[in-house]
Amino acid sequence: MKRMGALMFAVLVGAGLTVSACSSSGSGGGGDQGQGRIGVILPDTKSSVRWESKDRPALEEAFKAAGVPYTIQNAEGSADTMATIADGMIADGVTVLAIVNLDSDSGAAIQEKAASQGVKTIDYDRLTLGGKADVYISFDNTKVGELQGQGLVDCLGGKPANVAFLNGSPTDNNATLFTKGAHSVVDKTPSITVVGEQSVPDWDNDKAVTIFEQMYTAADGKIDGVYAANDGLAGSVISILEKNQRAGQVPVTGQDATVEGLQNVLAGTQCMTVYKSAKEEAGALATAAIALAKGEPVSAQATSRDDKGNRDVPSVLLTPKSITKDNVVVVLTDGGQTKADVCAGQFAAMCAAAGL
Ligand code: BGC
Repeated sequence: MKRMGALMFAVLVGAGLTVSACSSSGSGGGGDQGQGRIGVILPDTKSSVRWESKDRPALEEAFKAAGVPYTIQNAEGSADTMATIADGMIADGVTVLAIVNLDSDSGAAIQEKAASQGVKTIDYDRLTLGGKADVYISFDNTKVGELQGQGLVDCLGGKPANVAFLNGSPTDNNATLFTKGAHSVVDKTPSITVVGEQSVPDWDNDKAVTIFEQMYTAADGKIDGVYAANDGLAGSVISILEKNQRAGQVPVTGQDATVEGLQNVLAGTQCMTVYKSAKEEAGALATAAIALAKGEPVSAQATSRDDKGNRDVPSVLLTPKSITKDNVVVVLTDGGQTKADVCAGQFAAMCAAAGL
């Protein structure tokens, strides 16, 4: 009996997790207050753990707190799936549709269709070039790149260094901005020579391993620092450095302040990451979505240039924070990760040494 109970519990918990990984919706407690339902489509589960582990719960919390009905689904890396989900959400009567596009063309097609049916659209985190979004909610992505570039320069400490760039997906406008920001700092540092640069399709961590290994071999191992666009890619780079007994000697950048990224920072195999509060971003999305649903003006202080669409998109651009071993506490205090997760097992001692 006891065993059965435990087994059933495990099955139920498992089923619950599976469901929430692809779709969740709620009435937001207060029910529909005449503002319609808000639909959000997340991009995938692989390019970063952030989408399911941070964005989804933060969005759910923000919509619930605001009392708005919502549906959140995940396109699992497929632009076709995203288009199908969008069609379904529009048919179900969402009044505002927010997407994290997988590429600008597929995102623009979704927004075109939505707009033709009177549905307002929002770009969440990634700008859709040539799109129709009423507003763009994100972080200052050029600034993210600048923080990464500066982090790398600081970690190299002025020593002459060969640096490799492992950029994000070429179809993600954010990746372009991150790289641009990082280069703006690195390129004006005379002690640094960029010896290789490649993009990672779909931010795919496995492809990143292969790409970086080839870069490492092509440079004859003479790489002293690596710009990696997010923590997932940093993990791929670190695995190759480990294979070559160089992990911890070669500074690697990152982004997202994931549990693994922060642990690598504490272990010294990654020199920095960038923290972007999901709570802040999700909160900004909920505020904008509710205003749009009510037909009220959205408060957007900034604009983002969309050269393809030849327009300046009204934007809310939040401020990212640079995180090194010295200020991991910032992420924990802000609720970005829990100490229990980051300081688990072998990392307990490193946390203690870092004063956490
Ligand atoms: C996001 C990053 C994320 C990456 C991969 C970017 O557009 O801004 O936070 O790591 O996509 O999902």
